[in-house]
Amino acid sequence: MLTKNEKILIIGAGGQIGIELTAELSKIYGHKNVVPSDLKAPAVITENPFEILDALDGKALFEIVKKHGITHVYHLAAMLSATGEQNPMFAWKLNMESLFHVLDLGKEKHIKQIYWPSSIAVFGPTTPRENTPQYTVMEPSTIYGISKQAGERWCEWYFKKHGVDTRSIRYPGLIGWKSAPGGGTTDYAVHIFHEALKKGNYESFLSENTALPMMHMEDAIRATIEIMHAPSENIKIRGAYNLSGISFSPKDIAAEIKKHIPDFTISYKPDFRQAIADSWPKSINDADARKDWGWKEHYDLPKLVENMLVNLKNLKTV
Ligand code: NAD
Ligand code: SER
Repeated sequence: MLTKNEKILIIGAGGQIGIELTAELSKIYGHKNVVPSDLKAPAVITENPFEILDALDGKALFEIVKKHGITHVYHLAAMLSATGEQNPMFAWKLNMESLFHVLDLGKEKHIKQIYWPSSIAVFGPTTPRENTPQYTVMEPSTIYGISKQAGERWCEWYFKKHGVDTRSIRYPGLIGWKSAPGGGTTDYAVHIFHEALKKGNYESFLSENTALPMMHMEDAIRATIEIMHAPSENIKIRGAYNLSGISFSPKDIAAEIKKHIPDFTISYKPDFRQAIADSWPKSINDADARKDWGWKEHYDLPKLVENMLVNLKNLKTV
C-alpha cells in the first residue's frame, strides 16, 4: 500500500500485463503516482508520467527511481517461453540481469517493495502434473522456466539476507481483451477469441487435449495488487506463490466458444510450443495463496469466454 509521497515504477509496462496493471494501479493511486516505463513510448498516451527505460540499464533505472521518488517497483520486462527458446542466451540475460538491477535497488534501500512475476514454467516434465503442489520436483526445460526458477531463489535470498520485501506469483496463462500477449505458449487462448470473431475458425498450435492452467487477466491483476497490499507477515513464501484460476484445453475452450458462435470451428497443428506445454502442469494447487493472503479467483471458463467475446465485440464495433 502506498503512503503519502510514495510512487510506483512499472518496468515493461507496455506488455500484456503492464497495460492493465498500469490502468488499475492508476485508478487506486492516481496517474501521477504510477510511472510506466518500457523500451518505447505507448501507442495510447495516458496521463501517467511515462519513461523510456531499458531494464538492462541499471544506471538509467536508478536515475528514474531518484527522479520520481519511486518506492515500489513492479518489474514485468522479460522474454517469455516461446520467444525465449528462439533466443536463449538473450532471454537469460534479460530475465536475470534486469532482476538483479531491481533487487539491488531494494538491497541499497532506494526502494521499499518489489513485485516480480514468476510462472508455471518453473515446473518441468518430472513435476506431478495434476494439482501441482507449491513444493515439488522442479526441473524446468525451457530457458524461460530456468530463469524464473532462478529468479525465485534470488528473490528469496535477497529477502532473507538483505531484508528486501519481494513478492511474487507463479502466474498461469493469462487471458484478457485489453492487451495482446507477447510470445508465450499460452497465447493461443487469447488469439482464439480474435480469430473466432474475425474468421469463425482457429488453427491451434497446441493439440486438442493439452490442458494448461489459465486465468482471466482481471483475476491476475487483482491477485498482483492483493499480494502487494498484504501485510508483510502474511507473505510466508518469498520465492513465488502457486496461483490457480481455471484449467482447460483447446478443445474445452472451443466448445465454450461454440455456445456463443455456433458455426465456430477449430483445427489443430501443433508446433514447437507443444513440447513446452507438455512439460507444464495441467492444474495447480494454490492452497498457500488462499491461506496466507486470501486469494480467490472470480472467473470460471464460461464466465471468461462470455466476458472476452462481449468485450472484444464491443471494441470492434466502436
Ligand atoms: P509481454 O511480453 O507482453 O510484455 C513485456 C514487456 O516488456 C513488453 O512491453 C516489452 O517491450 C518490455 N521489455 C522487453 N525488454 C525490455 C527491456 N530490456 N527493458 C524494458 N522493457 C522491456 O509480457 P507479459 O505477458 O506482460 O509478462 C510480464 C511478466 O509476467 C513477465 O515477467 C512474464 O514472464 C510474466 N508472466 C506472464 C504470463 C502471461 O501469461 N502473460 C504468465 C506468467 C508469467
Ligand atoms: N504465459 C506464459 C508463457 O506461455 C507462462 O509464463 O510463456
